[in-house]
Amino acid sequence: MKRDVIIACDFAGKEAAMDFLRKFPAGEKPFVKIGMELFYAAGPDIVRELKAAGHRIFLDLKLHDIPNTVKKAMAVLSGLDIDMVNVHAGGGVAMMRAAIEGLTRPDGSRPLCIAVTQLTSTSSQMLEEELLIKAGMEETIVSYAKNAKAAGLDGVVCSPREAGLVKGACGGDFITVTPGIRFADAAKDDQVRITTPAQARVLGSDFIVVGRPITAATDPVDSYHRCIKDFVI
Ligand code: C5P
Repeated sequence: MKRDVIIACDFAGKEAAMDFLRKFPAGEKPFVKIGMELFYAAGPDIVRELKAAGHRIFLDLKLHDIPNTVKKAMAVLSGLDIDMVNVHAGGGVAMMRAAIEGLTRPDGSRPLCIAVTQLTSTSSQMLEEELLIKAGMEETIVSYAKNAKAAGLDGVVCSPREAGLVKGACGGDFITVTPGIRFADAAKDDQVRITTPAQARVLGSDFIVVGRPITAATDPVDSYHRCIKDFVI
């Protein structure tokens, strides 16, 4: 898997997202992440438009429902020609298998499908006392990652600090997509456990997801190039 930088386009609407992407030189089409906020505001048209412009797209909608519903929803998303999509591993192996079935196009191709194991907003205390999962955070993440692999998924979203753990349990080819990235000299915002692009590379991330360090930068194109230089090249 070739390492790459994915820009989290966390904008409230289409115009803001387009204004941001217009800052890039005409020939440069970064891999972008469209999350719930932008997708619910702008609808599938923004996906079609960005695809037509040459961007690769990670549609971060984190599906979690009964297998039949997920299968049918994934078939619709796969028709948008996206490159990566995700589900909550908490939906179980049957749901994740159904996601892959729905995503697989008639010609056998499909977008990459990755799983969220536990949200980074879930603390160890919440896992045990609220969700009643007694196994502990690391064991739960590894177990959910193994379930994702057993269901035929391509990888997981995790912290760069968990990338080695996941690869050790699921193999080097199992993709790790890692948010929580900050430059060493920058603000942490609301991220708690942060990693620089260079550290993420050393820790074995395949894709870093970078939002505000690029979208809120004075020179977003320069910040993107800095990520590429530190993580990819
Ligand atoms: O702006 P920032 O770089 O913090 O953006 C990170 C992106 O990755 C956001 O879209 C956020 O929702 C997403 N994300 C995350 N942590 C996770 C999963 C997704 O920060 N565990």
